[in-house]
Amino acid sequence: MSHRIVFAIFCFIGVLEALQFQNLNGKWKLHSANMIIKNLDAEVPGGIYTDLMENKILGDIFYGYSDETTKWVSRTEWIYETNFTVPKDLVNHENVNLVFDGLDTFADIFVNDQRVGASRNMFVQYVFDIKKHLKVGNNKIRVHFKSPIQVSYDLAEKQNKSYIVPPLCPPDAYHGECHANMIRKMQASYAWDWGPAFPSVGIWKNVSIEAFNSTIIRHVVTDLEVNGTNWLLHVDTYLVENHVKGRRITGELVVVLKITDNQWVKSVVHVSVDGKSPAVSTYLAVPKSKISTWWPNGYGDQKLYTLEVTYKNGDEQSFKQVSVGFRTIELVEEPIGKGLSYYFKVNNVPIFMKGSNQIPLHILPELGQDKQRVRRLFQAAKDSHMNMLRVWGGGVYESEYFYEVADEMGILIWQDFMFACAMYPTNEEFLDNVLEEVDYQVKRLSGHTSIALFAGNNENEAALRDNWYGISNFTLYKNDYVKLYVETVKRRFEEITHKRRIFITSSPSNGKQSELEGYVAQNPGNPQFGDVHFYDYTIDPVNSSAYPLPRFASEYGYESFPCLDSWKEVVQSDSDLDVNGKFFEHRQHHPGGNQEMLNMINREFLPINKTHNQYTEAIIYFSQVIQALGTKTETEHYRIHRSTIDEEGKGHTMGALYWQLNDVWVAPSWGSIDYTGRWKLLQYHVKEFLAPVIITGYIDTDKQLKVYVVSDLTPELPTFVASICVYRWNSFTPVSKSNIMMDIDGGSSKLIHTININVLMSMSDCGTGADAFRNCFIHLSMIDQSGKQMAPNNYVFPTKIRNSSLQNPKLKISSVKKGADKIFNIEVTSENIALFVTLDSHQIRGTFSDNGFVLVEKNKTVIFFSENDTTTEELLKELTVVSVFDYTDQS
Ligand SMILES: *[C@@H]1O[C@H](CO)[C@@H](O)[C@H](O)[C@H]1NC(C)=O
Ligand SMILES: *[C@@H]1O[C@H](CO)[C@@H](O)[C@H](O)[C@H]1NC(C)=O
Ligand SMILES: *[C@@H]1O[C@H](CO)[C@@H](O)[C@H](O)[C@H]1NC(C)=O
Ligand SMILES: *[C@@H]1O[C@H](CO)[C@@H](O)[C@H](O)[C@H]1NC(C)=O
Ligand SMILES: *[C@@H]1O[C@H](CO)[C@@H](O)[C@H](O)[C@H]1NC(C)=O
Ligand SMILES: *[C@@H]1O[C@H](CO)[C@@H](O)[C@H](O)[C@H]1NC(C)=O
Ligand SMILES: *[C@@H]1O[C@H](CO)[C@@H](O)[C@H](O)[C@H]1NC(C)=O
Ligand SMILES: *[C@@H]1O[C@H](CO)[C@@H](O)[C@H](O)[C@H]1NC(C)=O
Ligand SMILES: *[C@@H]1O[C@H](CO)[C@@H](O)[C@H](O)[C@H]1NC(C)=O
Repeated sequence: MSHRIVFAIFCFIGVLEALQFQNLNGKWKLHSANMIIKNLDAEVPGGIYTDLMENKILGDIFYGYSDETTKWVSRTEWIYETNFTVPKDLVNHENVNLVFDGLDTFADIFVNDQRVGASRNMFVQYVFDIKKHLKVGNNKIRVHFKSPIQVSYDLAEKQNKSYIVPPLCPPDAYHGECHANMIRKMQASYAWDWGPAFPSVGIWKNVSIEAFNSTIIRHVVTDLEVNGTNWLLHVDTYLVENHVKGRRITGELVVVLKITDNQWVKSVVHVSVDGKSPAVSTYLAVPKSKISTWWPNGYGDQKLYTLEVTYKNGDEQSFKQVSVGFRTIELVEEPIGKGLSYYFKVNNVPIFMKGSNQIPLHILPELGQDKQRVRRLFQAAKDSHMNMLRVWGGGVYESEYFYEVADEMGILIWQDFMFACAMYPTNEEFLDNVLEEVDYQVKRLSGHTSIALFAGNNENEAALRDNWYGISNFTLYKNDYVKLYVETVKRRFEEITHKRRIFITSSPSNGKQSELEGYVAQNPGNPQFGDVHFYDYTIDPVNSSAYPLPRFASEYGYESFPCLDSWKEVVQSDSDLDVNGKFFEHRQHHPGGNQEMLNMINREFLPINKTHNQYTEAIIYFSQVIQALGTKTETEHYRIHRSTIDEEGKGHTMGALYWQLNDVWVAPSWGSIDYTGRWKLLQYHVKEFLAPVIITGYIDTDKQLKVYVVSDLTPELPTFVASICVYRWNSFTPVSKSNIMMDIDGGSSKLIHTININVLMSMSDCGTGADAFRNCFIHLSMIDQSGKQMAPNNYVFPTKIRNSSLQNPKLKISSVKKGADKIFNIEVTSENIALFVTLDSHQIRGTFSDNGFVLVEKNKTVIFFSENDTTTEELLKELTVVSVFDYTDQS
């Protein structure tokens, strides 16, 4: 092994031998196994719902009650077939494999009518040795899929004979399927509280033939350590097994890290390996001085370097290229308060993790790989100042491209293994199946710069401890828990990653403390340790004292309704556009969810009269406002407490990932971006409450207004001026204003002002008693000494909006002017202070620079970024603007 830095002109090594791969993607034939449906054209990669829609056997499954009417699809057995021609050169290789990157889920695979193998896990790449079945010329592949519903039922029946592994079925409100926990398939494909049951079937990823005499590079897994003035870049190269009896894989592996066009670091390894999973390990020592560090979004650039690995043996060679961002990441758990801290350090800098939870990018897994869909999601995350997304355990391990974009945009990934909200079996067959999954996914993914940690499961520690499923023998399921997540998932994970990557067993968990308590802590939601998930729909969402003080909040949020334009795309008739109607109830899977939203709306705003001629619009609007305000209050609360430890030892909160970023159908949900891609008001608020610097405040239980500035920036902020203004609802001129000049350290939160709210109100000519609270509210802003805005404006309401004397703002769109390409400047004019001013461009798709804002000026210019080609006239015609007053004015 040698590694040294070389300065020379870089040149690419060789070219791929042309016939090693044959792509089998493309047009296949599809039949039901009973041949009632036959000879349909199918697209591979793809899936049964997409194919049936393309063939007009199914209409749009996202429309109406299709989740109920299409249940036969996943109860049917399906056959995918193709013919293809194989040239002599390919067949002549000593090894010929048929490779499915993803089979969903239970299939028998036949080549020229000979069974070559079977699949049982959607998350595993299947490699079948087909050397003896393949012939020169025409060949045939048949993939016969069983019904996942039938298989899960059969497995549950078998499992039942020893003991029941709950839950058996989801709540009725999901209209879902039973026994998802028996099988290794996207758990949410059997329905979730935010999504429909579309248990897909099909070849959801690439399929190809690979042929070689010695081997092919399958995975290149990188990992980093710092050693003095060098980065040590560990490179594990996994090769494909050689099926020829007694054959060793020999040759040379060349590993090259490109630093610049004419500088690289290189290692050449002599290869001599055999067995089922041959691997070669090496490392490169890379001088730190030559390297730009990779940073999460908001902390610096995302410099990525290219690592090229070439295997050579005589005429044969295989090549793989991966990207490497140089960074370190640790999860710091050290004594603090009455527990342990739980925060991430990236490149030794403590970083508050801000972001969201992502559900599968599409309920049909083949469509979740769509590059445009991936990019849009990350762009929204990046523009909203996120630095972390959680890939949640009821979905799928995402596409290669997904993690590449995360690397490129600086969004760290909290990667769950795909186990969620259930107990799981631990028979030998199940555990072997899981081992194959862990093996494949960790090798495929763990080298990505963006992946911060892997987590064993979602909420299963809490489900077990808090007995969500009414089990009577804790020990039995606890033993299973340890067998699965510790002795299987964690053990294999640590073998592959040499214990250099972060693994936590569950979320929420108490981290190290859970381990000490045998991996199932007494209270997995203990705020003194690890992460928490917090949901309570009975609290007042805009009262920050209702929220816990955890070390890290990895899930929390509120539901809202998507906008009417989105609903219009999926209803069968206009009569379904009724917030109290059957259709809105059908799509609400969270039991009682619509009523919970109404309760939250009524508490904060006036109960809307059901005879209001825009009742549904009003409820949709208010649901989005209250979702945004609740999530904002909660997130700001977590950010405020990054630097505090209260008398009980709680605080030092260093993460806030709200639930959830995206949606998989048009339905009431926790999503901030709806299924059609439209931003809910929450997403506009996210952009502000996750800004690097915020000014925020709340009124505590002692009637003290507390104003905080929070800065995530590394260096100390330049001296700033914070303004606390009191406005009467009927005037654009504040009735009082105090300016505070201050400094704040980097990466901290600081209480900059405390004042009794009654004192502030009476000082401000707002009237007395309850009247004062009705008449006035508080506006917060922050500028630097040159007058430049340093944080988004913010506000504090001394009473419920329903008690406030809102005036009619008579909002108008006074002008629309075209800026650069597809960019428009919209001027909104108001006669009074207006609350949660919401612009909507309806059929013209795009996003606004700002939306759902509090208007304290006569006019405001909002920028519209259109996705459609449009004109100022068209846009003006589509645009509407509303505020709270429009729906609460019942006169
Ligand atoms: C494959 O070829 C055979 C023989 O030419 C033909 O009968 C069959 O329909 C073809 N199948 C597909 C899936 O194209
Ligand atoms: C692979 O092996 C076959 C059969 O032994 C031989 O004909 C062929 O030339 C070899 N190909 C390479 C690239 O070595
Ligand atoms: C397993 O047992 C439970 C409890 O007796 C029962 O409700 C369920 O139907 C059984 N499932 C199957 C597939 O047999
Ligand atoms: C899938 O195959 C296509 C060629 O059909 C290729 O462009 C793409 O990179 C492959 N995707 C993955 C993830 O391997
Ligand atoms: C790490 O650095 C030490 C001290 O410079 C050196 O002795 C050692 O060889 C280095 N380790 C590796 C793996 O390069
Ligand atoms: C509970 O499960 C444990 C572990 O399998 C077993 O040893 C014990 O006998 C069970 N207890 C009861 C009451 O069934
Ligand atoms: C709702 O409006 C109707 C008619 O506009 C009116 O008769 C009724 O009193 C109102 N209900 C409430 C609770 O305000
Ligand atoms: C509002 O816009 C009008 C023109 O539309 C302009 O004359 C006026 O100065 C603006 N007022 C403020 C307060 O910016
Ligand atoms: C805007 O673009 C979307 C696709 O991005 C399209 O579906 C829609 O029809 C377009 N709307 C108009 C008004 O052109």
